[in-house]
Amino acid sequence: MKPILDPCCGSRKFYFQKDAPFVLYGDLRDESYVQCDGRILEVHPDQQMDVTQLPFPDDSFALVVFDPPHLKWAGAKSYMAQSYGTLPKDDPLGFLSRGFKECWRVLKPEGTLIFKWSQKDFPIHVVLRAFGRQPLFGNRQPKSQTFWMVFFKQKEPEPRSEHPDEITARKYIERDPETLKSLGIFD
Ligand SMILES: C[S@@+](CC[C@H](N)C(=O)[O-])C[C@H]1O[C@@H](n2cnc3c(N)ncnc32)[C@H](O)[C@@H]1O
Repeated sequence: MKPILDPCCGSRKFYFQKDAPFVLYGDLRDESYVQCDGRILEVHPDQQMDVTQLPFPDDSFALVVFDPPHLKWAGAKSYMAQSYGTLPKDDPLGFLSRGFKECWRVLKPEGTLIFKWSQKDFPIHVVLRAFGRQPLFGNRQPKSQTFWMVFFKQKEPEPRSEHPDEITARKYIERDPETLKSLGIFD
């Protein structure tokens, strides 16, 4: 299993390393487009996947990049829709919330999730509210309206082990029905 997952990689525009062997590049699409300026846009993930139903076990990746479509309104053949995809019209926030939840599920404890959001059709605070998790840090008021947010998945706290005195007390109570009676545990 590669250590880094990008389930919405698109044409990998923001990558300096567009074919890093340690990144699993995923996307719903696997297509090429001739764009309005005549350039060819290539979207060829290593694996096609749906970010809302990721085909990986829990706790699989050290780093997950979540850069989902941010536009609800864009012509199907427009440059923006071809480059970045579009949000589902019926339930865009539900889609974002399910996508984030899946990215979080496959992230290892002590792993990092990077979320990129271009604030046009939905403000960042609305999207973060839909995630139900607070980022650790990020840029607050970018002039470009493009936010980068960093989330860190903490380890679950270890289950607390019983103190020796508690074990003795519990054993004593278990062997002593009178005490149980007086505590109202038995009728
Ligand atoms: C904002 S673009 C990603 C841009 C990319 N980070 C880059 O550097 O070029 C969002 C991508 O999410 C993809 N996408 C849309 N719905 C998806 C889904 N359900 N599962 C996975 N990818 C999806 C789109 O096809 C689009 O390529």
